[in-house]
Amino acid sequence: MKGPREVDISDILPGELKRVSWQGKAVLILRRDEEALKSLPGLDEKVSDPGSNDSEQPGYAKNEYRSVKPEYLIVQGWCTHLGCIPTYARKGEIAEIENWQGGFFCPCHGSRFDLAGRVFKGVPAPLNLIVPPHQYLSDSVVLIGDDSGAA
Ligand code: FES
Repeated sequence: MKGPREVDISDILPGELKRVSWQGKAVLILRRDEEALKSLPGLDEKVSDPGSNDSEQPGYAKNEYRSVKPEYLIVQGWCTHLGCIPTYARKGEIAEIENWQGGFFCPCHGSRFDLAGRVFKGVPAPLNLIVPPHQYLSDSVVLIGDDSGAA
């Protein structure tokens, strides 16, 4: 699909991920619960670019949650290493990683990202997952690919 794309987010339950296609690429929409949001500050020391200073996101998503609404993370679904599609893994789902709080795992070369799409230190991916331009049209609809009306 070319151009912006409207996505209904009203059916995403807390802790669940919705994957959509925009301009031929995957976009991941994660609805984070309170526990997920609380886990993020504690990971600042473990991620490469905690303040997203080197990573790509619109200015309105350059904050601790990397989002407009803390509840929803919207990122492009391709790894910043070589472009594989990362898999969403909930808290504890990756047994080999101690104290896994949930996030994204790239199976190609083992890069890991937290629940804000921030890349962990010591993996091949250099940068956080990219936040595409977007804006909310209502509480239940987000427009991916157009932020002309965003604050
Ligand atoms: S493409 Fe994701 S780790 Fe290499």
